[in-house]
Amino acid sequence: MNKTKLFLASIALAASQAAAAQGQKGPDWLEDAFFYQIYPSSYQDSDGNGIGDLQGIINRLDYIKSLGVNAIWLNPVFESGWFDGGYDVIDFYRIDPRFGTNTDMVRLTEEAHKRGIKVCLDLVAGHTSTRSEWFKQSASGDVNSRYADYYIWTDSISAQDKADIVKRHNSENPASNTTGKYVEANAKRAKYYLKNYFECQPALNYGYANPDPSHPWEQPVTAPGPQAVRRELRNIMSFWFDKGIDGFRVDLAASLVKNDPEKEAVKALWHEMREWKDKNYPQCVLISEWANPPLAIPAGFSIDFMFSFGVKGYASLFFDHATPWGQVKPGRTPTYDYCYFDMRGKGKLDEFITNYTNSYTKTKDRGYIAIPTCNHDFQRHNIGTRNTPEQLKVAMTFFLTMPGIPFIYYGDEIGMKYQEDLPSKEGSNKRGGSRTPMQWAKGETAGFSTCKPSELYLPVDTDGGRITVETQDAEPNSLLNYTRALARLRHATPALNNQGDWQLISSLSQPYPMVYKRTLGKQTIVVALNPSGKTVKANVGIKSATKLLSTGRATIKKGTVTLGSCSAVVAEVEEL
Ligand code: NOJ
Repeated sequence: MNKTKLFLASIALAASQAAAAQGQKGPDWLEDAFFYQIYPSSYQDSDGNGIGDLQGIINRLDYIKSLGVNAIWLNPVFESGWFDGGYDVIDFYRIDPRFGTNTDMVRLTEEAHKRGIKVCLDLVAGHTSTRSEWFKQSASGDVNSRYADYYIWTDSISAQDKADIVKRHNSENPASNTTGKYVEANAKRAKYYLKNYFECQPALNYGYANPDPSHPWEQPVTAPGPQAVRRELRNIMSFWFDKGIDGFRVDLAASLVKNDPEKEAVKALWHEMREWKDKNYPQCVLISEWANPPLAIPAGFSIDFMFSFGVKGYASLFFDHATPWGQVKPGRTPTYDYCYFDMRGKGKLDEFITNYTNSYTKTKDRGYIAIPTCNHDFQRHNIGTRNTPEQLKVAMTFFLTMPGIPFIYYGDEIGMKYQEDLPSKEGSNKRGGSRTPMQWAKGETAGFSTCKPSELYLPVDTDGGRITVETQDAEPNSLLNYTRALARLRHATPALNNQGDWQLISSLSQPYPMVYKRTLGKQTIVVALNPSGKTVKANVGIKSATKLLSTGRATIKKGTVTLGSCSAVVAEVEEL
């Protein structure tokens, strides 16, 4: 064997050893991972300017640990134009000054690690801000610029694309309207650029899966520009992994390669990234915002979400037909009636169970599905008439006993409310209602900041001090303490934790209660949930049961589970 061949063979061996060491599902710490999502502008302000920061998060790490959380995901913290809540990045290599410095990020990571908490950041892989230096150089028309082909430019677009621009410009707020594909920039480089979301978010050029020969600006994925962008993405990840970061949640992960209807090219891209990561950073994790686990997980992600868009089902649990994706559409009032988690007991389970079962069976040996309590893009589950601790405890029982990896959105552990009718803030549109300051204690700013209420990032919901960490900490039966008890139970019960199997045992034709079992080895756990206001029963075909945790009036005896209004039970059982 000559030297080059020997070298390549040794690399291949090292890569396969690294992959084997960390397993296909991802690093082994995922087996017991329990995530908490933080929207940093709203979590804790340490310097009194009304906006949360990294030092604020450091100050709250002991609280976070007390939830049973061992991993956090922070929404974007990189220097941003703040026109889309941080998803319009100016510089991926720099922490935004509103949050602190790169050194503060390293300190946060070190402090989190001391407490056994991993730290994941948000990687906005698909686009930047128009204020990014890369974009400015690309727009300048200097063909020798390193960034010349980082974006997609053209002088000619279709009549439909032109009509979309007009439609967007005629809307109430064109800058935060997502209609259409192109933005008329009249730059030296070309007249139009391709955007990914809002106008201020030009798409990075990962190339086209099927470039149209009559569109010379559509470069193949193998062209120098798209390949340079891939290298840049790896550089960003290395830069932060080398500083101790444990992983990334990848924004709009499915969107990178254009004209890729079967998603084959984007799957190949993530496959390549996963191989690179496994070889160089086997203990780090990639989490996707793809919302289609059967595609995302085989592509290389260890975790994908099932939530407000993508694979259907989540919305039917928490929202209803008027907002089919559960997403808050600009100008529309969110609704929640007749979903499954509703006191009226008129919801159905079919859509969720069918889609979840399909995704789960296809991915359970290769990665994890996360069903988050909420996130920064859709409504919190405390909304409308679903607002009592009893109702929220039943929902929390569901979130923390399903397989995969739990993700609690900050504030859901105390049942913070979705705030309707807030003005749009930094491109939030209606999403601002789920981004209000964390409610720590009584008072005008709820312990979030020392600033005046008028200086707050978004107004706090003071609600008479009922929904605060301070109040609920002191109340043994609070949602907060119930959440902690569920988290402890999950960590201590292998069948209930991330590796345990799942099977629905109630019938879809009688949707209340929802009963499922979780199994691992010889252990079987039964979970029964009744979000309705009526008493319901189900046959669970078991020999004996030991109640581990419950809320409301719930009994499980001799093969029958009986659940009073808004109740839930988790029990270890002996099967027949
Ligand atoms: C998904 C993010 O979650 C959302 O907040 C953002 O506006 C879009 N991607 C665009 O980056």
